[in-house]
Amino acid sequence: MSGRKLRAAVIGLGIGKSHAKGYLNSPDADLVAVCDMNQERLQQSADEWKVEGRYVDYHAMFKEADLDVVSVCVPNALHAEVSIAAMEAGCHVICEKPMAVSVGEAEQMVAAAKRTGKQLMVCYNYRYRTDSQWMRRIIQSGKLGQIYHASVSWHRETGIPGWGLFGSKQASGGGAFIDLGVHIIDLALWVMDFPEALTVSGSLRSLFGPVARKTWGRKPGQTVDQFDVDDGGVAFIRLANGVSMLLHVTWAEHTQPKEDSFRIEIQGTEGTVIQHVRHYGSNDTLRYFTEIEGESVTITPDIRFEGPQSHEALVRDLMSSLRQGQTPATSGEQGLATIHILEALYQSSEQGHEIALT
Ligand SMILES: NC(=O)c1ccc[n+]([C@@H]2O[C@H](COP(=O)([O-])OP(=O)(O)OC[C@H]3O[C@@H](n4cnc5c(N)ncnc54)[C@H](O)[C@@H]3O)[C@@H](O)[C@H]2O)c1
Repeated sequence: MSGRKLRAAVIGLGIGKSHAKGYLNSPDADLVAVCDMNQERLQQSADEWKVEGRYVDYHAMFKEADLDVVSVCVPNALHAEVSIAAMEAGCHVICEKPMAVSVGEAEQMVAAAKRTGKQLMVCYNYRYRTDSQWMRRIIQSGKLGQIYHASVSWHRETGIPGWGLFGSKQASGGGAFIDLGVHIIDLALWVMDFPEALTVSGSLRSLFGPVARKTWGRKPGQTVDQFDVDDGGVAFIRLANGVSMLLHVTWAEHTQPKEDSFRIEIQGTEGTVIQHVRHYGSNDTLRYFTEIEGESVTITPDIRFEGPQSHEALVRDLMSSLRQGQTPATSGEQGLATIHILEALYQSSEQGHEIALT
């Protein structure tokens, strides 16, 4: 990368605003264009950030805006199409999670990155939390001994997204599992250095969404236009080297009011580490259980959260990877590994039996 700043753009201005913040605060980038088919959103964001390039059509933006890097933050079913078009137009891409709604599409994205020589980064922003990085370091250091089990969950009490196209299988590819499950599957695989997934068994349900219950922003008596995706479920994944993974994900359930928390527990022969993040906070998120001199001990790591932790940190990672000619931490290949699991999980639930991946 030369000394000049990278010309960046964001497509889709919902969570895309967090990407924009990353570019706006980066010394290595200029946010030169934004794109959204919703004119009002487009105008509002572009005015706020004083961005001159404003587009409702991303093809026109790729043609005219002379871009180096693009964040793709549109609904899931468009991720592959827009990301591939961006790479073909000469841009590096940060694609929001899930990378794609099928293995076939995700493979096409990885192939496009290879063909064009562009970086394809999947937006797994929770990897950039200081506690996630500490957890990965302690596991990679070997202190937990032989890893044999991961138990991961995300629970929401009233957490069905009430905006956008999250309830549509066609637009989003699935519900709670493709929305929240994708993050925690990725986190668990990443801290364990991506052991191969061998089999997947899933049992998903859709009980609250179809009757408009437990939806964010819902008014009493409101009905839903469309809801044909999962709003919760469980899964069991067999990983290489005898490692097992249990998953429990909900957008909605009867539990502690306003509950919205994820939990990653990794067990090894020498210790267990747990990350429990409540309401996206950073307070008291880690536990480490081990034995010292024959005694069972509980350690509460009190680590310092400093600097950007989420989308902004991810944007910075891409910028520095490009500067140093390295592959960013959340590569397309790793994104593909999680899509393989999710596709099998949905298939398993529909067919009522375990699916082999190898
Ligand atoms: N990493 C995270 O933590 C996180 C959080 C929220 C959402 N997301 C992901 O981000 C994506 C968007 O989610 P959201 O909550 O921002 O949804 P959203 O519905 O609020 O925003 C999507 C935007 O894309 C625009 N859009 C749709 N099709 C378009 C097109 N063809 N061209 C231009 N603009 C188009 C819409 O007008 C809308 O403004 C999803 O894939 C979601 O999974 C990730």
